[in-house]
Amino acid sequence: MTKDWTPATWRSKAIEQVPDYPDPAALAETEKRLASFPPLVFAGEARKLKRALAEVAEGRGFLLQGGDCAESFAEHGADNIRDFFRAFLQMAVVLTFAAASPVVKVGRIAGQFAKPRSSNSETKDGRTLPSYRGDIINGIEFEDGSRIPNPERQEMAYRQSAATLNLLRAFAQGGYANLDNVHQWMLGFLSGSPQAERYGQIADRISETMNFMRAIGINSENHPALRETDFFTSHEALLLGYEQALTRVDSTSGEWYATSGHMIWIGDRTRQLENAHVEYCRGIRNPIGLKCGPSLEASDLLRLLDRLNPQNEPGRMTLITRFGHERVEAHLPRLIRAVEAEGRKVVWSCDPMHGNTITVNDYKTRPFDRILAEVKAFFDVHAAEGTHPGGIHVEMTGKDVTECTGGAARPVLAEDLSDRYHTHCDPRLNANQALELAFLVAELVKKEHERKPASQVVNF
Ligand code: PEP
Ligand code: CO
Repeated sequence: MTKDWTPATWRSKAIEQVPDYPDPAALAETEKRLASFPPLVFAGEARKLKRALAEVAEGRGFLLQGGDCAESFAEHGADNIRDFFRAFLQMAVVLTFAAASPVVKVGRIAGQFAKPRSSNSETKDGRTLPSYRGDIINGIEFEDGSRIPNPERQEMAYRQSAATLNLLRAFAQGGYANLDNVHQWMLGFLSGSPQAERYGQIADRISETMNFMRAIGINSENHPALRETDFFTSHEALLLGYEQALTRVDSTSGEWYATSGHMIWIGDRTRQLENAHVEYCRGIRNPIGLKCGPSLEASDLLRLLDRLNPQNEPGRMTLITRFGHERVEAHLPRLIRAVEAEGRKVVWSCDPMHGNTITVNDYKTRPFDRILAEVKAFFDVHAAEGTHPGGIHVEMTGKDVTECTGGAARPVLAEDLSDRYHTHCDPRLNANQALELAFLVAELVKKEHERKPASQVVNF
């Protein structure tokens, strides 16, 4: 067990991004109730994810992490969850085939409600109100009542997470994730896409492989791996009172686990070594993500790894870099070199979203070509440093929204942004853009795979 740590020790530390609840007694009451509720995930599942991530850290596998920037109460419904899962699985199949190794699937879902903000307040037409901090804290409507943090929202977020997770588990294990289905959806995407020729090759080879397997008697009826998948959940552990309430001792190992999601991450604004968020995360045994932006010094990163992963356990730490498409070369090599020089085991993952946000026609957006450029630069730097580009971390939805511009399959133009701009926070890739990105990343993954010494290539 971690020394001098309890799920509450973060409370005596400095803290950033903390909401101002007007009624602390009501907040304490809610936290007490949450602490008596069942866990959302189990420690054994978090350990399974950690083992899968350990393989990625060793260069065998790829992490696909994605979902909403912020889940919302308004958009909670079966269709949204299904459409997200469907888009996400297609991405995963494309990447699995390209990498010829396992893809670890982690959604930003079933708990991704709290948002860090760059300003504590927002001013509109001369009126200033507290910033929206995510549905688990306050409401997005620009009205007095709505912006006041309300603890009851934590209970709603917990219940929504439970319902979302329940459906995801059914989808992942109940036959919906059948490879035949996923493959058919992918063919649907390709028919009518101007990119069909480019991506058709991968899709055709998947078709051939599946026909071959069927011919020799391997099908989804006799092979569960073809109809089931492991799907994990993740979110930013920002609202620490909520996280504390869901922190439980695992009866098998006697260790503390966050049971609000399988993996949690520390945001770029809350990663100060001596502050509350790092303090909370150091004591739980789940896989931890750490957002790494341009301001992170290599020496600070090493100290954070010391604090969060003193045993250098592979699979524990995923470093999610997010620099902006033109800044990858300036920042990623120095972090990689520091980590490599000390022999730290980490998964390197690329978040090509958060450094590439611009405003067009008053809409926050992200041009698809900048997102792709950041991913490409990430792969190039890893190739030059001889390290494994282990994953991507994206904001996406299964719906046909118009929030990020560009994409070749069905491009979103600047003037389209107002058509279906639904995000509660940052702009997300729509289903077509997400799948297109997966095909493009697959090409990069394949190139990396071809470069690898034979000893690192997985044999089946
Ligand atoms: C996010 O992932 O939604 C986010 C706020 O990221 P970052 O902490 O990297 O800015
Ligand atoms: Co975001």
